[in-house]
Amino acid sequence: MSHGWSARDIPDQSGRTAVVTGANSGIGLHTARELARCGARVLLACRDERRGKEAADRIRYAVRGADVEFAALDLADLSSVREFAADYRADTLDLLINNAGVMALPYGRTADGFETQFGVNHLGHFALTGLLLPKLLATEGARVVTVSSGMHALADIDMGDLNSERTYHRWIAYGRSKTANLLFVHELARRAAAAGSTLVAAAAHPGLAATDLHTAGARMERRRAVERVMGLVNVLAQPASAGALPTLYAATAPGVRPDWFTGPRRGRRGAPGPSWRADRTRDDVAGERLWVASEQLTGVTYPGL
Ligand SMILES: NC(=O)c1ccc[n+]([C@@H]2O[C@H](COP(=O)([O-])OP(=O)(O)OC[C@H]3O[C@@H](n4cnc5c(N)ncnc54)[C@H](OP(=O)(O)O)[C@@H]3O)[C@@H](O)[C@H]2O)c1
Repeated sequence: MSHGWSARDIPDQSGRTAVVTGANSGIGLHTARELARCGARVLLACRDERRGKEAADRIRYAVRGADVEFAALDLADLSSVREFAADYRADTLDLLINNAGVMALPYGRTADGFETQFGVNHLGHFALTGLLLPKLLATEGARVVTVSSGMHALADIDMGDLNSERTYHRWIAYGRSKTANLLFVHELARRAAAAGSTLVAAAAHPGLAATDLHTAGARMERRRAVERVMGLVNVLAQPASAGALPTLYAATAPGVRPDWFTGPRRGRRGAPGPSWRADRTRDDVAGERLWVASEQLTGVTYPGL
């Protein structure tokens, strides 16, 4: 890895609480582990209890005295998102890491009828963030980090067909969901500033990191040859621990500004730095339109913003 910011630079997180979605694997697991290593209490928000508890055990094994706990969260089901938020009893929340994601899955729908990638990657996190917002606004120095992707470049959102009902292409749908992540961050940052809040909403992407993301779709469809080919991506990719650094930087480095998009400085790998993003992901009108549509679809509004 090149010189630059590394996990050793994470400031002390004692006394802080973080929620990390999709913390049982890949980038989320490394993000959660490093936050715990630096003293944060970390809630591992995962959809599968066994995988979530195993991840908690792995982190406790790696980090003596780690304060980590599994909490059930299925982003493909708004009732689960509501339950998670209702069970989060503390008055404050320092870090929300919207990390969980799915990529290039065959067409499917969430429990609430949303196209799966848009529903999990964007709408689930939109609802989660809105429901936890009072705790975030009540916390000095709180940050929300949403994990997008360089692949947002693949497609703009289609406001007339947010759920890809007219046509579905798995990669276009992924690109749209990752564009939605960036527009969400842009609009959340804009609204927080307008409300005079110090909340920092930032985005990150891991470059190309070796995780389950690349093979999950093919595995789901039992397309073994495709799974093997996609598995080769992981040979070329940087380790998931390195992929977690942009997220950790956005979450903890001093001086991170609202609406920053942090990624590996060399594009697909390397130390974190500012990342290229399509201009359309900074469009106020598009951000506002997606926000209003997301409120209508999820029924979650943002009190105070
Ligand atoms: N790896 C890369 O090269 C790359 C590049 C660009 C962006 N990203 C982004 O990085 C983020 C993390 O992905 P990763 O690469 O670490 O992949 P990963 O290892 O497959 O992790 C994805 C996580 O999301 C969870 N998840 C999926 N559906 C969920 C749902 N309905 N509710 C709750 N959690 C759910 C998964 O849980 P299960 O284990 O239960 O499936 C898993 O914990 C994603 O947002 C992805 O788009 C990754």
